[in-house]
Amino acid sequence: GLAAPALASAQAYPSRPITIIVPFAAGGPTDTVARLLGEAMGRDLGQSVVVENVGGAGGTLGAQRTAQARPDGYTLLVHHIGMSTIPTLYRRLAYDPINGFETVGMITEVPMTIVAKRNIAANNLAELVALVRRERDKINLANAGVGAASHLCGLLFQQAMNVPLTTVPYRGTGPAMNDLVAGTVDLMCDQTTNTTEHIRAGTIKAFAVTTNSRVASLPDVPTAIEAGMPGFEVSVWHGLYAPRGTNPELVTRLSRSLQVALRDPGLIRRFADLGTEPVPQEKATPAAHRAFWTADVARWRPVIQAAGQFAD
Ligand code: MLT
Repeated sequence: GLAAPALASAQAYPSRPITIIVPFAAGGPTDTVARLLGEAMGRDLGQSVVVENVGGAGGTLGAQRTAQARPDGYTLLVHHIGMSTIPTLYRRLAYDPINGFETVGMITEVPMTIVAKRNIAANNLAELVALVRRERDKINLANAGVGAASHLCGLLFQQAMNVPLTTVPYRGTGPAMNDLVAGTVDLMCDQTTNTTEHIRAGTIKAFAVTTNSRVASLPDVPTAIEAGMPGFEVSVWHGLYAPRGTNPELVTRLSRSLQVALRDPGLIRRFADLGTEPVPQEKATPAAHRAFWTADVARWRPVIQAAGQFAD
């Protein structure tokens, strides 16, 4: 029958390298999470886990590639809060943004930071807002496209200031960061996994973190709430996915490996350096991930509808 070969392949799994698709450019925050996770999972699975960057269109191209991949456990996806916003942001997609995937487990929740080019003429959030109000036509905001975390945080930031800004989209905030450091774009709202080292090195300026308490690795950076933006709170959860139809036994194996990886001391240390930590083990399961994601889609839908920025 059909069950026997499926079982045999589940027992042999994985017999060759696994690819994790990252739907943003190399060197950025999603890439960083996926590479650290892939190394640790690879040790547990006894196979290498390689990252393939499929950036563009706010993370939808890489998600589409995954949804359309063979559901054999050898193509996975690391994606973030965009999985919750894309179903509302995009009216037309070439894949099903919810039912196209099996959830494997949540990975981490990453704080964001409001940052600017180093020589911006403001030294705290109130001064930055005043500057933006004065020079709104000259100041632009980098992001990684409609559906990116930087896009969502940027929307909330513009709403909080009540000032619409010109946005400059990139294939990921890795390349956007290069331009922020070079000073060719002005502002960005980006994850601590991408900004912490630049903030510490002084190559960019930090104005706020977007969590309700300060981030241990950036003790001098106030929260947006402290700095005068009440209610400004957003963090970026990441999850691991497989294409819909992947054998549940393989998904279970991957979820177990994800849990092992999230206990890895090296991964925990590196996450901490970058302002984050793994989710509790009970969230690194297919069911907990699915439940969180479903609720999160519903949570962001009215926010996005109120902002009125959609993509086709
Ligand atoms: C990235 O990996 O480039 C980011 O997660 C982009 C973003 O969502 O802002």
